[in-house]
Amino acid sequence: MNPSSTRVLTGITTSGTPHLGNYAGAIRPAIAASRRDGVESFYFLADYHALIKVQDPVRVQRSTLEIAAAWLACGLDPDRVWFYRQSDIPEIPELTWLLTCVAGKGLLNRAHAYKAAVDRNLAEGGDDDAGISAGLFMYPVLMAADILLFGAHKVPVGRDQVQHIEMARDFGARFNHIYGGEYFVLPEAVIEESVATLPGLDGRKMSKSYDNTIALFADPDVLKKQIMGLITDSKAPGEPKDVDGSALFQLYQAFASPEQTAAMRAAFADGIAWGEAKQRLFDVIEAEIAPMRMRYRDLMADPGRIEDILQAGAAKARMIAAPLLKQLRYAVGLRDLRSKTESTAGANAKPALPVFKQYREKDGKFYFKLSHANGSPLLQSKGFDNPREAGSFLAKIKAEGKAAWEELRTVSELAGLAEESHVLEALEAIFQDAIELI
Ligand code: TRP
Repeated sequence: MNPSSTRVLTGITTSGTPHLGNYAGAIRPAIAASRRDGVESFYFLADYHALIKVQDPVRVQRSTLEIAAAWLACGLDPDRVWFYRQSDIPEIPELTWLLTCVAGKGLLNRAHAYKAAVDRNLAEGGDDDAGISAGLFMYPVLMAADILLFGAHKVPVGRDQVQHIEMARDFGARFNHIYGGEYFVLPEAVIEESVATLPGLDGRKMSKSYDNTIALFADPDVLKKQIMGLITDSKAPGEPKDVDGSALFQLYQAFASPEQTAAMRAAFADGIAWGEAKQRLFDVIEAEIAPMRMRYRDLMADPGRIEDILQAGAAKARMIAAPLLKQLRYAVGLRDLRSKTESTAGANAKPALPVFKQYREKDGKFYFKLSHANGSPLLQSKGFDNPREAGSFLAKIKAEGKAAWEELRTVSELAGLAEESHVLEALEAIFQDAIELI
C-alpha cells in the first residue's frame, strides 16, 4: 500500500434496486470521493450480507447485477478503485471464522439489529430468538471481516452502522492482542453529515421499507409520473409556499445548482404552482440521470461485461487479501506441519504488562502516563492541577470501562503519542487491574 494514502471502504448490500436516495446519499458522493488523490477506494457488493435478509435467489442475482451496473453507469472507474463482489473473495468467510473465535458473544448480543429483532419478538410475546437466524446474529463479524481484510482506515456509514465499525475495531484489536502483532488496522467510521438524505414520495426518508422510493433508472415517463405524485400541501397557485419541510424543495436542491436552488426558493415565495414546481424538479433530475441511464441500459444488456469487470476486481482484491490470510493462518497455528514449531508473540508467552506512572512535570501539573513494558509511551494524560483531579479521572476510567473510551481517545490524540491498538490493549489491562503500578 502507498503509505501516505487513506483506504476507504464501502459495502453495498445487494438486496434491492437502486433508488434516487441511494444515488444522492451514497453512490454520487462515493464516486466523487474515489476521484480524490491520496485515497484508495474499495467498493464491494455485499451479497453474503444480502442472504441474511433475502432468500429469493432471483432477487439476489438481479440486485447484484443492477447495483453493479448502477455504480459503473454513474461513473465508477474500476481501474482506479477496487470494485468486487464479496462472495468472490474466499478470504472473507475464512477471516470471518477467525474473527468469530475472538469475538465476544456478549458484544454481539448487544448489536442493534439483533436486539431490535429480539425486542420485536418479546413485544409479540414470543420466544426471544424466534425466527432469528444465526446469520443475523453474526452479521457484525462478517462485516468486520470485510473491513479488516483490506486494512481500511475509514468506513463511510450512516449512523445505524457506527456500532458495527466499533465492533470491527474491537475484534481487530482483540485479535492483534491475542496473537501479538499488528495484523489489523483499526478502522474508523466516517459519518457523512453533509450528504443528502432524500425524502421519498410521501415526505418521509426515502427507503425501501417505506415503499416510497423513486427508482434511479426508471423510464423517463415513469419518473415523471412518480414526481407528479409527490405529496405536497394544498396551497393554490399564487399562494406563497414554504421551502422548509417541503420534500419537493429538498429533492430539487439535491440535483440543482446553487443558482437554480436560489431561483426555486424565490419561485416558492412567489407562489409557483405545484404542477410547475414538479415539472422543474423532473427537469433537473432528468438532466443529471439521462446520460447515466443510457450507460445503465447498455450495461444491463451485457451482463457478461459486468461479470468480467467483477472477476477482474476480485483478482485485484485477492492480491491484498490472500497474503494477509496466509499470515493470519500462520499466526493462529493453522500451519504447514513441517514448519518449525514456534510461538507468535502472544499465543503462549504472555505479553509483558504495561506500566502505569503518575508524576509531576516541571509545569507543576500532575500527569499520568501509560507505557508499554518496552518503555514506549502509549498514552499520556493532559496535565491536572492536583493529584486528586488526576486520580478522579483515572477512577472514572476504571468505573466506566469502555464508556470512558471516547474521552480517553481525545486524551491520546492530544498527546499525539499512541498507536491506538496499543492503547486499547493497555486499557484492557487497566480494566482488569492487571497493571503494574510504579
Ligand atoms: N451492512 C452494510 C449496510 O447494510 C453493508 C456492508 C457490508 C458494509 N459490509 C460492509 C458497509 C463493510 C461498510 C463496510 O449498509
